[in-house]
Amino acid sequence: MPVRSTEWEGVYADGPWLLTRNLVPGAVVYGEGLVRGSDGEFRRWDANRSKLAAYLKRGGRVWPFRLRSSVLYLGAGSGTTASHVSDICADGIVTAVEISPRSFRDLLALAEKRPNLVPILGDAAKPEPYAGRLGSVDVVYQDVAQRDQEAIFLRNFELVRSGGTGFLMMKARSADISASPAKIFESTKRTLAEAGTEVIDFRNLEPFQADHGVLVVRKP
Ligand SMILES: C[S@@+](CC[C@H](N)C(=O)[O-])C[C@H]1O[C@@H](n2cnc3c(N)ncnc32)[C@H](O)[C@@H]1O
Repeated sequence: MPVRSTEWEGVYADGPWLLTRNLVPGAVVYGEGLVRGSDGEFRRWDANRSKLAAYLKRGGRVWPFRLRSSVLYLGAGSGTTASHVSDICADGIVTAVEISPRSFRDLLALAEKRPNLVPILGDAAKPEPYAGRLGSVDVVYQDVAQRDQEAIFLRNFELVRSGGTGFLMMKARSADISASPAKIFESTKRTLAEAGTEVIDFRNLEPFQADHGVLVVRKP
């Protein structure tokens, strides 16, 4: 039976599983299991498929996602993680940017059923086209697995309100194939701190996501 988390708003647990309440009852996004609870239907949130779920499984404690949060999600892919964020921020807005037309097609189909999910076919390295209509957001979540992931993140972090939060999912092998993940994570942390963000959490996402880490920062 799903039990509401006391630490993470909008997140539930059922034995070893994390869950979110399904915004579109009956609909499955990536083959995840559905669980019936006393107050609705829940979707299993797989930490091997979603880095945000892996962050929680690895003891992540910073949790800015609220029922009415506005989230800018960069590198949404087909919407696996974005769908869970859309469940959690059910009365908020999740603006999901994706550069690949193939993945965007899936994202678009997902958004047709989810009124709080706004898909944008675009390049997160060039935020100008969507920055204007977005205003400021509570959270930026980035998972683009690109060499220049730090620069992309800092450009988009300008769209976060003061006191807002940024999640940077770092793929070490994307940044530098020869350097050790620990060194890359450390150097990224320094770069973000030097750029004036306040680094408030870091988690290595092993064993759920090989060579991945997450940095969480706050805007002063
Ligand atoms: C690791 S996958 C994302 C998985 C997704 N975040 C999830 O958890 O469900 C990375 C995605 O980032 C997209 N991407 C890469 N560079 C991008 C950019 N500059 N702007 C927007 N999306 C980008 C890729 O096309 C790919 O779909």
